Amino acid sequence: MPFGKKEAEAKSVDISTDICGIHFPNPFVLSSATPTMHAENVKVGIDAGWGGAVLKTLFPAEHSRVYARPRFKVFWLKDQPGYPQHIPRSYTITCIEDASDLSPEDYEKDVNEAKRLVGENGVVIASIMASDMETWEKYMDLINGTKADMVELNFGCPYAGEPGTKEEGPMLGWKLMQMCEDVVRLGKRKLAIPFSPKVSSQVGEVDIWAEKLEKAGAPCLTLSHRISGIWIDIEKARPYPFGSITGFGGPYLIGFSLKWVAKSRRKVQVPIMGNMGVYDWQDVVRFIMVGADVVQSCSAVMIQGYDIVKAWRAMLTKFMEEHGYSSLKDMKGIALPYIVAADKVERGAPGIYAVVNEDKCTGCGICKRTCFHFAMELIPPNNKARVNLKKCAGCGLCAELCPVDAISMQKLANLDLYPRSKPYHRYFPYTGPP
Ligand SMILES: Cc1cc2nc3c(=O)[nH]c(=O)nc-3n(C[C@H](O)[C@H](O)[C@H](O)COP(=O)(O)O)c2cc1C
Ligand code: SF4
Ligand code: SF4
Repeated sequence: MPFGKKEAEAKSVDISTDICGIHFPNPFVLSSATPTMHAENVKVGIDAGWGGAVLKTLFPAEHSRVYARPRFKVFWLKDQPGYPQHIPRSYTITCIEDASDLSPEDYEKDVNEAKRLVGENGVVIASIMASDMETWEKYMDLINGTKADMVELNFGCPYAGEPGTKEEGPMLGWKLMQMCEDVVRLGKRKLAIPFSPKVSSQVGEVDIWAEKLEKAGAPCLTLSHRISGIWIDIEKARPYPFGSITGFGGPYLIGFSLKWVAKSRRKVQVPIMGNMGVYDWQDVVRFIMVGADVVQSCSAVMIQGYDIVKAWRAMLTKFMEEHGYSSLKDMKGIALPYIVAADKVERGAPGIYAVVNEDKCTGCGICKRTCFHFAMELIPPNNKARVNLKKCAGCGLCAELCPVDAISMQKLANLDLYPRSKPYHRYFPYTGPP
């Protein structure tokens, strides 16, 4: 049986969960973005099988309601081998689509329409962001007048407050988190529905802010928002394609956001909506295993469409059945106890060396040029790789890079006798082939 918490195989699994008294039919939640632009998008998403949806953010800046045409640039996707059958983890969607294109009045109507269309089939989460306490309060009143199930307080929009925007400064999670604590206190007093501050991953220590916001009264946390960045066209020596600093993100950042959920889960009790970097259902499991309750997703949906959730749900269910997890709670945070400090990681175990399968080796030379211990040799006439065990430090880089998996890391038992305290790869009395 594969690794799992329970010995007995579960007969059926429950992929639903409750957050702040709200029932999520499954942990897959559409993040606030283009796929949740308007009520009809939310309806299509929930019909496809998403458990909930965060609508785009209501924000007072007029400029943020007007989108550039075109407004999207997707870096490092179409030029990757295998696209579209294979979606790389490397891409990032950047855009000029800062917030909702709706006015406060229309936003209010749209949230209600979303809930009317979706009913009890999914959770409708509004999203608000403001630059001053008065507007936060006004927007909270507005949300109280809607049928939204929850509301996200967007403290981390990567566009807001970057140089050149009018609202530079006060609404920003990473510039003035003190205000975010005040907004949370205000939300605790004012809001009639549960709310979740969406914390910027640029605040420095997200986990410290998670703790502060929980103390201030946040009943839930969204961890974390994407980062901001810029790209340069070197022919034109200009920022590309929009000219301003924009949001950067993508599945390659998941390690970053998993870390924040893991570190925060050790400090806070409130539910966490994991966010940033989801590539597929397995990443959702990763988020849950470090302590998230549900997981939001944006880029994966924008690249592949709403229907990916059908496969994700099926795969999650199958995974849980196979591993004996009967509910999401069985998986929640189970990886946490095994995350150790760097000084606790086992190092220096002797006897691990690179071993080349000559039948597979094509003689491409990648392993030789990337062995920084100079242990790899290419043996004429056909350039088959061979490891000089005197020099091999067992680092494993060659095995990681060999394009045909001709290298495996093996424990060579008869070499184990050499004392661990010495740099054994240098002194080993090697008598075999060069
Ligand atoms: C095109 C686009 C628009 C977005 N709009 C919003 C928004 O209005 N409000 C918000 O809180 N986050 C917004 N985001 C951020 C996403 O909600 C999400 O936090 C981010 O993309 C990270 O998740 P991912 O890695 O699954 O894409 C937007 C992201 C993208 C790519
Ligand atoms: S990288 Fe792999 S295929 Fe290429 S020379 Fe080394 S062992 Fe052979
Ligand atoms: S394991 Fe590291 S040191 Fe040994 S041959 Fe491979 S790259 Fe070189």
